[in-house]
Amino acid sequence: MNKYVINGGKPLFGEVEISGAKNAAVAILPAALLVDGVCRIENIPQISDVTSLLRIIDELGAKVRQINLHTVEIDARHIHTTRVSQELAHKIRASYYLIGALLGRFGEAEVSMPGGCNFGGVRPIDQHLKGFRAMGAEISTGDPIIARAEGGRMKGANVYLDVVSVGATMNIMMAAALAEGLTTIENAAKEPHIVDLANFLNSMGADIKGAGTDTIRIHGREKLNGGSYTIIPDQIEAGTYMAAVAATGGQVLIRNIIPKHMDCITAKLLEMGVEVEEEDDTLLVRRTGALKRTNIKTMPYPGFPTDMQPQIAVGLALAEGTSIVTEGVWDNRYRYVSELNRMGAQIRVEGRTAVVEGVSKLNGTCVQAFDLRAGAAMVIAALAAEGTTEITNIQYIERGYEQIVEKLRGIGADIRSEKIKEEEISIPHIS
Ligand code: EPU
Repeated sequence: MNKYVINGGKPLFGEVEISGAKNAAVAILPAALLVDGVCRIENIPQISDVTSLLRIIDELGAKVRQINLHTVEIDARHIHTTRVSQELAHKIRASYYLIGALLGRFGEAEVSMPGGCNFGGVRPIDQHLKGFRAMGAEISTGDPIIARAEGGRMKGANVYLDVVSVGATMNIMMAAALAEGLTTIENAAKEPHIVDLANFLNSMGADIKGAGTDTIRIHGREKLNGGSYTIIPDQIEAGTYMAAVAATGGQVLIRNIIPKHMDCITAKLLEMGVEVEEEDDTLLVRRTGALKRTNIKTMPYPGFPTDMQPQIAVGLALAEGTSIVTEGVWDNRYRYVSELNRMGAQIRVEGRTAVVEGVSKLNGTCVQAFDLRAGAAMVIAALAAEGTTEITNIQYIERGYEQIVEKLRGIGADIRSEKIKEEEISIPHIS
């Protein structure tokens, strides 16, 4: 087990290259199981969630060929089981996509309940199951979830989502790609990775229209064929480096992004007094003056992303005045606040709202990552803080950020990953 040791208080300067989008990759890799052929997928981030998924895909009988660090070929012509082993399924949240993909292709799936980040509350999948049931699946909801399509093939249906859910939208899209007839998803999520999954499936021969709007129509096909696809850049990874520059000061060129995807984050950083200059596929982020207060409310895309809420809160903790943060997606995503307050922040949480009183500085100490984005916020806080910070439970961070230590060192951060000594090991708050 390792920890990050960060000597903070230095502005960041240089260039950072953004990897492929985690939340697109963790859907597109299972979606490759729908394809009766060979898919070549490029720009896959090298993160532990991807490693776990590739192991699952391999265990199911697909041939996985690693072409280079960021490219794999998946040949799912000969799958020998639709049962996903519990140990692997528990490791990642995105294992729920295996239900949609396996149901879509084979009309059956047996998948343990997903693991992944725990925000301290329940992470339901009732909307996914509602969609599958509308499409004729019978589902028993213990652990594992066992799903079977009536007659062996999913049937097109109208599915109205009661909450805007990224996971349910993508899962139903997968199950519908090979279903008999037309599926319509209403009140669908519109995140960039929804469009990316639709583009991937369409490039393999699916017929999906309307991804990126709140109504998606999928005409089921008999078969999908192989092909080649490149995953979009990671909006949240890019936003995280932008938020780091906001908190530390300095100037960093963020490379390989889609500027349109960054608008919701850029808008808030501009309000905070950060300068952002957009080019074709880069953003130049600069902060020279003091940070200004602002209010943030997280919402489904194109609103401000919940996955950027902890990281932006670090900048607000260092801004002049009082900012109000409202979490509009998850019930409980403020577990990082206690750690940030131990570094000197003054944040009070009241239900889904956090009142952030700006302070002039943060101080280094020992903190832990409670989940992926909470961990990213700890890294940003440590980079901005005076003195040394040690961050434990970094396995959460490495689920979603490729080479974060190397990338930060490349822009001048004093960060290293170090083995935790036996006597330092404590029981993590969550597993
Ligand atoms: N919800 C339901 N029922 C469902 C599904 C969701 O009530 O069946 C509720 C959730 O409880 C939540 C809201 O709907 O309040 C949105 O959940 P959503 O389904 O959109 O989340 P998800 O698909 O499980 C993905 C990302 C999360 C990100 C959310 C929101 C993946 C693997 N995860 O989760 O990413 O926060 O969308 O954008 O794509 C992260 O990357 O750090 C992360 C947690």
